[in-house]
Amino acid sequence: MITLKTPDQTAKMREAGQVVATMLDACRAAVRPGVTTAELDRIAAEILRKAGATSSFLGYYGYPATICTSVNDEIVHGIPSPKRKLREGDIIGIDAGAIIDGWHADAAITVPVGGVSSQAAKLLRVTEEALRAGIARAVVGNRIGDIGAAVQEVAERHGYSVVRNYVGHGIGRAMHEEPQVPNYRPVRGQPNPPITEGLCLAIEPMINIGGPETRTLADRWTVVTADKSLSAHFEHTLACTAGGPVVLTAAVGAAVAA
Ligand code: MF3
Ligand code: CO
Repeated sequence: MITLKTPDQTAKMREAGQVVATMLDACRAAVRPGVTTAELDRIAAEILRKAGATSSFLGYYGYPATICTSVNDEIVHGIPSPKRKLREGDIIGIDAGAIIDGWHADAAITVPVGGVSSQAAKLLRVTEEALRAGIARAVVGNRIGDIGAAVQEVAERHGYSVVRNYVGHGIGRAMHEEPQVPNYRPVRGQPNPPITEGLCLAIEPMINIGGPETRTLADRWTVVTADKSLSAHFEHTLACTAGGPVVLTAAVGAAVAA
């Protein structure tokens, strides 16, 4: 069932979204060669605590950390570890979710560790551009599939592939609600609901330099590219309104123009 949110409810989600934006900003600022992914987790947890918020992730199906940290060929759901030291040239995806008064927000960024290859830098630029293109199509009157079509077009124009095994999602009182939000063109036989006022979505392209296939590591969480190619992930939570998409996890919560 798809639940639509009132303006008061999206205001709560925006509060959670501002905490998520702060967590991601602080983690981004802390990323450098030598820092461990566990240190980033601690920084994020401290911001949640100060804000009186809780993590959407910690304890979710037993997930053991506050954020996800996914390095290089790790696509999503990497578990922070004191043994994982970042190295110059890595890229790291940082995914965070916060709950305030029962309302969730969820966002992710991928950032370079020191200087990275031009190939890696381009992957980050293109994946963020794909997210922006998807958000711009989250317009009342469009369908969910228009979002994925826009994401896919940007990724494939640069020769990259879009992960199929994981998708974006509705969000609200639960982190994962209907509808699913694929990052690819609608597939016949799959639901493709209309975008209506009050729909809140987490759009989250996962883009690989190589093929789209995925594998899950023995820790049962970390998802990697099957061909070990680099992968990037960007995510925002947004509300679909009569005035267009409103990003709830950007620092100012501004409407995004196409
Ligand atoms: N942010 C992820 C998503 O968008 C969820 C992380 S999975 C968890 O679906 F287990 F860490 F919570
Ligand atoms: Co998400």
